[in-house]
Amino acid sequence: MFHHIKNFFVKKPTIVTKEDILKDPLPQHIAIIMDGNGRWASSKGFPRIAGHRAGAENLRKIIELCGDLKIHYFTVYAFSTENWKRPKEEVDALMSLLVEYIETELDVLKKNGVKIKIIGNVEELPNKAQLQIRKAEKETSINSKLFLQIALNYGGRREIIDAVKGIVRDTASGQLQLDDIDDNTFSKYLYTVDVPDPDLLIRTAGEKRISNFLLWQCAYTEFWVTSVYWPEFSSKHFYMAIDEFQRRHRRFGGL
Ligand code: IPE
Ligand code: IPE
Ligand code: MG
Repeated sequence: MFHHIKNFFVKKPTIVTKEDILKDPLPQHIAIIMDGNGRWASSKGFPRIAGHRAGAENLRKIIELCGDLKIHYFTVYAFSTENWKRPKEEVDALMSLLVEYIETELDVLKKNGVKIKIIGNVEELPNKAQLQIRKAEKETSINSKLFLQIALNYGGRREIIDAVKGIVRDTASGQLQLDDIDDNTFSKYLYTVDVPDPDLLIRTAGEKRISNFLLWQCAYTEFWVTSVYWPEFSSKHFYMAIDEFQRRHRRFGGL
């Protein structure tokens, strides 16, 4: 009952401040579908890649904000298994941007206690990106302040298929018994092993779909959409999303 203090006593404000959201428990795990870089760029008459650059800049700010709020787990969707369908120039530019991003951000992330993990099929990324990723994961592995999962060449269906393959392999070798396969065991075969499911999923740029993101993990995640394009998503919107999350009543199928 007392988890939902806001439902009963506090009127919904038009502007939400950090102080407002710190009065109630924060989501432990927030995930974001960072969408709208291209539309943001087009609306300004810039090439799409300028939108991705601005999006990367913004990611830095929102990671800082998560650290500031002491959010434990933060997952962002950066590149889907379907995004390879885009023109080669855009894919290439995104890959270079990724390498550049990790190169320039790694020291700050290390200093701020961020532990990085890439979820997705890293082996299919260009060599240079793979090297940067492995380096970043290794050098931040001892950190524990904020656990940042970056979904890169990530697909929810692909992740589930990979989990099934792992389960079949371990069952065939006798390491796993058929009767022991339940939700909990299954989760351990996903890329997100040991990370609790997201409490709050934010999508920018207005689409109301999941686009193959964290299909298994979002079974009971609260969904919040804004029409704001990712490069313009700020602390103001982040606080609004959290405030609304705090007003919702999660039932998980119960009463
Ligand atoms: C999200 O922005 C970033 C990626 C998918 C890589 P988009 O590039 O999808 O931007 P829109 O949706 O075209 O505006
Ligand atoms: C989802 O955005 C993927 C990322 C943000 C990385 P898309 O732009 O690829 O999604 P759709 O195509 O609108 O569903
Ligand atoms: Mg998009």
